[in-house]
Amino acid sequence: MVDVSTSYMGMKLKNPIIVASSDLSRDADGVKKCADAGAGAVVLKSIFEEQFFASSNISENRFPLHPEALDYLRAGGLLEYGPDEMCREIDKAKKDVEIPIIASVNCRTPSLWPRFANQVEEAGADALELNIYDLPLKLDISGSEHENNYTKILKEVKKEVVIPISIKLTPEVSSLPNLSKKLSQAGSDAFVFFNWFLEPDIDIDNIRTISRKGKGNFNHSLRWVALLAGRIDADISASGGVGRADDVIKQILAGASAVQVCTLFYKKGLSEIQRLLQGLEAWMEKKKFNSVADFKGELSFKEQELSVKGLGEAESYFRTQYLKVFKVK
Ligand SMILES: Cc1cc2nc3c(=O)[nH]c(=O)nc-3n(C[C@H](O)[C@H](O)[C@H](O)COP(=O)(O)O)c2cc1C
Repeated sequence: MVDVSTSYMGMKLKNPIIVASSDLSRDADGVKKCADAGAGAVVLKSIFEEQFFASSNISENRFPLHPEALDYLRAGGLLEYGPDEMCREIDKAKKDVEIPIIASVNCRTPSLWPRFANQVEEAGADALELNIYDLPLKLDISGSEHENNYTKILKEVKKEVVIPISIKLTPEVSSLPNLSKKLSQAGSDAFVFFNWFLEPDIDIDNIRTISRKGKGNFNHSLRWVALLAGRIDADISASGGVGRADDVIKQILAGASAVQVCTLFYKKGLSEIQRLLQGLEAWMEKKKFNSVADFKGELSFKEQELSVKGLGEAESYFRTQYLKVFKVK
């Protein structure tokens, strides 16, 4: 019998399958369903900054939120899942399940999150995932100014809590290695590669803009997991496009401690957790690996750089331009 347990941000997970933040994990019932289906951990649906503003007694003058949006929010637009509700659900879920519960907040500013982080810690969350993204819109703000904001948010939150913190990042930063290093030095225990976004489109019949659900990009995540695993002092979980046991195995070989999965469970149900685990176990038995630690990171960039195989084997991680992969007939 192989051992599929793993260690992620200082917590022992019975297996590396984490149910990613989404409506599947919005309340205690959802968390219990994930746990009953065999998940190693669950990330709760994020609380968004706007929800926090709306549920707090905050003057709209202090924060850059459109006043109409604030009225809408205060009228209940998004408040059915505000910070208090999340904390109540954490408290309830902790009585029902033993797997780690990771709370999630979506933040752009360091203003309010520390207080909320403290609330979720008190409610019993085992860890906190900061889902930080602020689309750079202003022409005069540099990449490093934007990225310094990530560190500021992390440092403010770290002052308030002792539970481990992960940061769900976007690859759209000027240097992911440098940002990850700075954030791990500032105390981030783990990273999630990557966040998922709404994408813009245009409806040409009605001549208006629309937002579409983005897609997790498995290979993009694989590249950055492999390039950074073992080189920064933090764990990594991979998020994006995991649909089969092979994908779980690939991400662990690249250096991930765990994978976060969402769309697969929406499409085919939480019973897919067992299918992923059966595939992982069968492969480990076939390859004679007794534990996840036995093969974790074996194909990371760092391991290949150090090994006799040399960098040729790892070229696909850092080669981004076509040279000879495709030939024109
Ligand atoms: C319906 C839905 C809701 C989501 N809500 C959140 C959220 O609140 N916070 C968050 O960080 N990610 C959210 N995500 C992104 C997922 O956590 C995950 O990172 C993304 O879907 C990529 O993984 P996948 O390819 O397995 O779906 C959501 C995704 C979906 C499909």
